[in-house]
Amino acid sequence: MIPQTSPAAGYAKNKEQIDAAVARVMNSGWYILGKEVENFEKAFASYVGVAAGVGVASGTDAIELALRACDIGPGDLVFTVSHTAVATVVGIQRSGANVALVDVDPRTYSMSPDQLEQTIRSAADGSHGRPAAIVPVHLYGQPADMPRILEIAKRHGLTVVEDAAQAHGASLQGRPAGSWGQAATFSFYPTKNLAGFGDGGMVVTDNPKIATRIRQLREYGWRDRFVSAAPGLNSRLDELQAAILDVRLESLDEDNALRRRIALTYDEALCESPLVTPCVRESAEHVYHQYVVRSERRDELRDYLSQCDVGTAIHYPVAIHQQPAYQNRFLGSDRLSQTEDAAGKILSLPMYPQLEQDQQDQVIQAIQYWCT
Ligand SMILES: Cc1ncc(COP(=O)(O)O)c(C=O)c1O
Repeated sequence: MIPQTSPAAGYAKNKEQIDAAVARVMNSGWYILGKEVENFEKAFASYVGVAAGVGVASGTDAIELALRACDIGPGDLVFTVSHTAVATVVGIQRSGANVALVDVDPRTYSMSPDQLEQTIRSAADGSHGRPAAIVPVHLYGQPADMPRILEIAKRHGLTVVEDAAQAHGASLQGRPAGSWGQAATFSFYPTKNLAGFGDGGMVVTDNPKIATRIRQLREYGWRDRFVSAAPGLNSRLDELQAAILDVRLESLDEDNALRRRIALTYDEALCESPLVTPCVRESAEHVYHQYVVRSERRDELRDYLSQCDVGTAIHYPVAIHQQPAYQNRFLGSDRLSQTEDAAGKILSLPMYPQLEQDQQDQVIQAIQYWCT
C-alpha cells in the first residue's frame, strides 16, 4: 500500500543525524526547556524572518497562548474558518474567546476576504462578543490572502494570529507564512512539513512583549522560577523534539522542493482529467503539506484507489460547524456553503518528500484508469 503520508520515511532519510541528536540530549541530563529548545527557537524564528520563537507543547496550545498573549480572551470574538483542523477552533476556544466562522474561497480553500467582511459586519451588534482577532489558516501549505486580510484587520482594529501549522516554508509575495500577523503558530506534529516524533509547536512573533508573555504562560505563568505572574499552564517543547527539529530544519527547503516536484508531476498528469487540481495563488510559494483534488464522485474514487493500494485521506470530511461538539454554536454557521460543498468532494493524494517516482506513477495510472 502506498501510504498517504509517511513520517517513518522522513526518519529513514536523516536517521544518522537524528539518532546522534537524540543521543546528545539523552546524555546531557537536561530534558525540558534547555539549550536545544533555545537554539531551535532562534533558528526557526530566523527561518520565518521574525524576531522571536517560543516553543510550546503543540500547535493547538500555540494558538491558545498566542491569543492570550495578545490579550484576547473571554468576551472577545475571533474570526476563523470552518474548513480546517478542529485544533484551530479548540485553540481559540481555550483562550476563552468566542468563535465566528467564515466561508472559504472555493479554489484555494482558505478564508474568503469578502466573506470575512460580511461576517465582521454581522457581528457588529456585539451579541457574540467584541470583534477582536482573525485567525486565518494557511491550509494545505498555501498562504491565505494575507494582504487583503491584513487590510480588513487594520480597518476594523483586529489582531491577526496566523495558523501556519501546515505551512512551514511557504510564502506569499516573497514574505514567509508566519511573518504577516502580530503572531503566528506552528505545529510540529509528525506528519507536518517540519515534523518531530511527538507533539510540539511554536509561536513566532516580532513583538518582544508577546514573546515574553508566552514564555511565562507556557510554564505556570512564572515570571521568575516559582513566582507566577499570571495563571498559566504547562506547555513546554522538550529538548528531544527541539534537537530533532533542528536537524530537520536544515533539509526543510529541500523537502518542500521535493513536495513541489511531486505536485507538478500530479498537476501535469491530471490536468486533462475531470478532477480539479490545486490552484496556487499568484505569487505564492505553496509547500504542499497536502495535495488535494476535488471530484463530484470523491467517495467512488477513494474506494477505487484503495483497491489499487493507494492510500488517501480527507482533510477534512466534517466541517467544524457540523461537528457534534459545535453544531449551531458559532456565528456564521449558516453561511458556509463553499465549506460544506468542499467537505464532500475533496481528496488528499499521497504526498511526502520520499514518495518515489514509481509510486507517483502508480497513483497517477490508477486515477487515469478510473477516469476513463
Ligand atoms: C491547521 C492546523 N491548526 C492547528 C493544528 C494543531 O496542531 P497540533 O496537532 O500540534 O496541536 C493542526 C495540526 O493538526 C493543523 O493542521
